[in-house]
Amino acid sequence: MRVLDLGSGNGPILAALRDQGCVAIGADIDFVALQKCSERGHRVVQARAESLAVRTASVDGVVCKVVVPYTDEARVVAEIGRVLRPGGTAQLSYLAAGYYFRYLLLGPGVRRRVYALQTLVNTWWYAVTGRRLPRFLANTLYQSNRRLVRYYGAADLELVADPPARRFLRLPVYIYHELRKSHDAARADAHQSE
Ligand SMILES: C[S@@+](CC[C@H](N)C(=O)[O-])C[C@H]1O[C@@H](n2cnc3c(N)ncnc32)[C@H](O)[C@@H]1O
Repeated sequence: MRVLDLGSGNGPILAALRDQGCVAIGADIDFVALQKCSERGHRVVQARAESLAVRTASVDGVVCKVVVPYTDEARVVAEIGRVLRPGGTAQLSYLAAGYYFRYLLLGPGVRRRVYALQTLVNTWWYAVTGRRLPRFLANTLYQSNRRLVRYYGAADLELVADPPARRFLRLPVYIYHELRKSHDAARADAHQSE
């Protein structure tokens, strides 16, 4: 299987994928992290998750662990839908509202609490206006099931698993989703080109 690790960082998932016999490709914006991965023999590409230099329908799987909060989430989900072949699967993990409420109320430290407040306000602003606050004010969004499901529909991605995750004040701390690229999208493309 050809699997793309989006936001591969220092490469822990690349190593696990390789151990399982996959052809793993890491993509990240961090040159230093990419270089470390490359030195360990991993295939990597420097790319923004919002505009991947990866061919359409060219990978069997995508893994993306705690990267989307730092990106333009709608564009990243659209890119995942584009690069996955029909029937391909994606495993994604996100940070949800409970993660930042926990930081806001428990810290540790003032800086964490301020960061959490910035993220919460940024996300609420984004949910209402579709725009993020200027980067110097906040650069992170927490994810919600409601917004994600909307993006999945637009990207022909089916949500096939949404297992329960840890909660804080009844709010999800993490979101774990398994997605499958619909076969219908390929059929519709073939139909159009007939
Ligand atoms: C919290 S780390 C997670 C790394 C890795 N997925 C893991 O589980 O160890 C977030 C990673 O996302 C990368 N990242 C942030 N914004 C990105 C973007 N727009 N496109 C690609 N990678 C991005 C960062 O450089 C960093 O390596």
